[in-house]
Amino acid sequence: MAPEKKATLLIKNIGQLITMEGPVPRIGDKMKEIDLIENGGVAIAGDEILAVGKSDETAGKISLAEGCKVIDAKKCVVTPGFIDPHTHPVFSKTRHDEFEMRLLGKTYQEIAAAGGGIRASVRDLRETSVPILTEKTTHRLDMMLASGSTTIEAKSGYGLSTESEIKSLEILKNISDTHPIEIIPTFLGAHEVPDEYRENRAKYIDLLIKEMIPTIAEKKLAEFCDIFCEDGVFSIRESRKIMQAALDNGLKLKFHADELTHSGGAELAAEMGAISADHLVYISNEGIQAMAKSGTVAVLLPGTSFSLNKGYYAPARKMIENKVVVAISTDCNPGSSYSESLQMMITLAALHYKMTAAEAISAVTVNAACAVDRANRLGQLRVSRPADIIIWNMLDYRELPYHYGVNLVNKVIKKGKVVYGQ
Ligand code: NIG
Ligand code: FE
Repeated sequence: MAPEKKATLLIKNIGQLITMEGPVPRIGDKMKEIDLIENGGVAIAGDEILAVGKSDETAGKISLAEGCKVIDAKKCVVTPGFIDPHTHPVFSKTRHDEFEMRLLGKTYQEIAAAGGGIRASVRDLRETSVPILTEKTTHRLDMMLASGSTTIEAKSGYGLSTESEIKSLEILKNISDTHPIEIIPTFLGAHEVPDEYRENRAKYIDLLIKEMIPTIAEKKLAEFCDIFCEDGVFSIRESRKIMQAALDNGLKLKFHADELTHSGGAELAAEMGAISADHLVYISNEGIQAMAKSGTVAVLLPGTSFSLNKGYYAPARKMIENKVVVAISTDCNPGSSYSESLQMMITLAALHYKMTAAEAISAVTVNAACAVDRANRLGQLRVSRPADIIIWNMLDYRELPYHYGVNLVNKVIKKGKVVYGQ
């Protein structure tokens, strides 16, 4: 008989324990169900959850290992660790200059067309050393962890050459060897057409298909392939061709779709069986129906609408009513949304998407797990699942959107270890 597992960490006296037990994904009205247990407890053995439930029952069911650490949650809220399913953290120079230009009336697209935007970040990344990029990326991940993200999807996309895309993805791989955050890497070589191919975009698409995608897949540097499918970046026709090459090389698909204008990216993502389509500010009714049917997760990025400040937000309520799987993410990047905080995104989702706290929590736990294809492992507090947990400084989970602009996290636990807020 296998030896009995003993608790190495016990969290007791939890006022509201939100386990997210129940259907995955959470669709429609089910987004409101968060499985809230009052007076809860969680026991952890090593890196996994050993027991979860009412405090006294949890304590009765398990025995404590010698030296077991006990945390008194002081009646506060405990949730699963958050999952941020869309980030671009590998860059050096920030683009606060462009933020100011936008305040003075220039649009994101005008700045990009004049050679700024993504291409400015590309020129900078190519010149920046690996140690400096590693330090800056790590710092962003530290801030994500501190605000409760225990898993993130992270994209390349500021290299746009085989060499510098590999450099970006290797930086993520090296950081993930030591950083507590779990990183799911995505290749975003189709983020923009770099300067040297502006006069011959077909040649860049060829490079993506014939060299970059096969090399990244062969080196196993990414699990997903993403594309900026948008008027003026990659068209529907180009996107279909590039993403088919990704599928042929065994990569799963994500799309930046309908972010700045309606181009039909959501429909294409659904048609190609993408795991997620992200942004969707200008999604059509047909796009909503197609995504509901295919089960492609809608990753909504309220920080991008907020920071671009044009007043347009994705039609979240319509998507929820039409049974699309909805997740929320930061889009952390130097151009359109420079924030590491899913807490901030939850406030924006409440105000601009009219999502309740419970719906937003579903969107950054179980549904975000679906957006990174980890539904059977992450996003819920269940026996034998990884012990990824947030202990909050709040007595009621509904404070989450309401008390904004500060960090409400007390402690973050990743794989059974307290990694923030000792
Ligand atoms: O998700 N849309 C493309 N990518 C980012 C912006 C990248 C940038 O401006 O650097 C986004 O909004
Ligand atoms: Fe993005």
